[in-house]
Amino acid sequence: MDMSQNIERVLYTEEELKDCVNRLGAQITKDYADKDKILLVSVLRGSYIFMADLSRAIQLPCLIDFMSVSSYGAGTTSSGQVEIKKDISFSIDGYHVIIVEDILDSGNTLYYLMDVLKARKAASIRICTLLDKPERRVKPITADYYGFLVPDAFVVGYGLDYNQQYRNLPYIGILKEEACS
Ligand code: IMP
Ligand code: MG
Repeated sequence: MDMSQNIERVLYTEEELKDCVNRLGAQITKDYADKDKILLVSVLRGSYIFMADLSRAIQLPCLIDFMSVSSYGAGTTSSGQVEIKKDISFSIDGYHVIIVEDILDSGNTLYYLMDVLKARKAASIRICTLLDKPERRVKPITADYYGFLVPDAFVVGYGLDYNQQYRNLPYIGILKEEACS
């Protein structure tokens, strides 16, 4: 299958993504310059590429860890139910935590994660999401850092999937409607 034939329109090219991630990395580097104990937590699997690139654009010592939660089934809308499948491997007590997400949509996932992590005595918790789809928000969650505001369409590539496909597309595009059925 040629993945690109199911893409309606390219939203962000590799170059645009690179510039965007570098800008976010530079901003975080500036904001956290006086902090030690920085921990980046990637929410698997959608943010794996963003995490790899963002972490290398942050010019400060930091720890890297991963969480895995499920909120989506195989479809394109959030179930609203979130469950932790894989947790952070150590205590975040005293750490400045940055949650690294691929896309903030309904907000269900991050609302739940913030709730869980806030109870663990981190020094601070912020959210860095590559994409923000504010139109679809149902929970009061805002990102401290975001790359792009996206329209209300289903997007794939650069880590984001539809039914576990398209994650390895190097750009981000809108999936054709006939490809999500
Ligand atoms: P939320 O809980 O509705 O905010 O959704 C968060 C998760 O849903 C994201 O981390 C993605 O994994 C997934 N998601 C939401 N919108 C899209 C999309 O347009 N394409 C791919 N995945 C999406
Ligand atoms: Mg995700």
